[in-house]
Amino acid sequence: MPQPKAFVTRIVPEKGLEMVRQFCDAEVWESDLVVPRDVLLEKVRDIEGLYCLLTDKVDVELLDAASKLKVVSNMAVGFDNIDIPECTRRGIPVGNPPGVLTDTTADFSFALMMAAARRIVEGADYVRAGTWKTWGPTLLMGQDIHHATLGIVGFGRIGKGMAQRASGCGMKVLFFDTMPVDLEEARSVYRAEPADLDTLLRESDFVSLHVPLMKETYHMISTRELKLMKKTAILINTSRGPAVDPKALYEALKSGEIAYAALDVTEPEPIPLDDPLLTLPNCLIVPHIASASVVTRTKMATMAAENLIAGLKGERLPNCANPEVYEKM
Ligand code: GLV
Repeated sequence: MPQPKAFVTRIVPEKGLEMVRQFCDAEVWESDLVVPRDVLLEKVRDIEGLYCLLTDKVDVELLDAASKLKVVSNMAVGFDNIDIPECTRRGIPVGNPPGVLTDTTADFSFALMMAAARRIVEGADYVRAGTWKTWGPTLLMGQDIHHATLGIVGFGRIGKGMAQRASGCGMKVLFFDTMPVDLEEARSVYRAEPADLDTLLRESDFVSLHVPLMKETYHMISTRELKLMKKTAILINTSRGPAVDPKALYEALKSGEIAYAALDVTEPEPIPLDDPLLTLPNCLIVPHIASASVVTRTKMATMAAENLIAGLKGERLPNCANPEVYEKM
């Protein structure tokens, strides 16, 4: 029997590729860069399985071009790059690898918070620039994390992971979520107290975002919200860039409305080199690497392969982002 055709939109960790190649007649976009859109539209014409990344837009145009498509497997837990209702309408299950990157991303969010608070990147740059002449009583003074207040916006798996780490450091933890949260668990397991968003923004020394990107979270942190925050506050974003209004953030950082921002994600990505945020000494930006540990990225790649293969076999995806698709079958 001929193997089903699949397209993999980037070189992903080898274990995942191996699984896909064993089961499919797979073409891999052998590059470290995004497949150009016109090429992608051409490549999907004949395939049944698409193994894609958060940098690939799976929208009506692509779905129209991919008339034989049976499954979309995203190697990212967030799926804001995919038109889920449209996939569901067409009976196409969409896979993602949830859970696997929770601790790795929470570790990184915490690391980013610490790096910002204690000015670690500035310190490293200072040494490399040859500016370090002596121990300085006021040199690169930062902010304490221990016993400070952390406000977590979005109390899902990663938000909870952040709370766990923070309570271990003696931080007071507040959280805000629009989804129902088990308060008993929040208090006893995560030592976190609920707060409305404005209270959280007013009272926190650090605000860390862990929301999915949706209509409701687009630019949820903008001028009004930044004004509510303490002038000494540090904003951490490892969720999705557009959760923060970048123009408002630039103004707030420049005018001292907040002290510092540490961003793993930007709007757009990559951030253009002439973006004003890059001119600010109080803005630390890294290239969307929160889930980038060897173990986690390998697991993400293999889970995405499992989803793809299950979809091609006509089986239920082990991790499906649109389970409602099965109600139609
Ligand atoms: C990374 O940002 C992901 O959604 O997996």
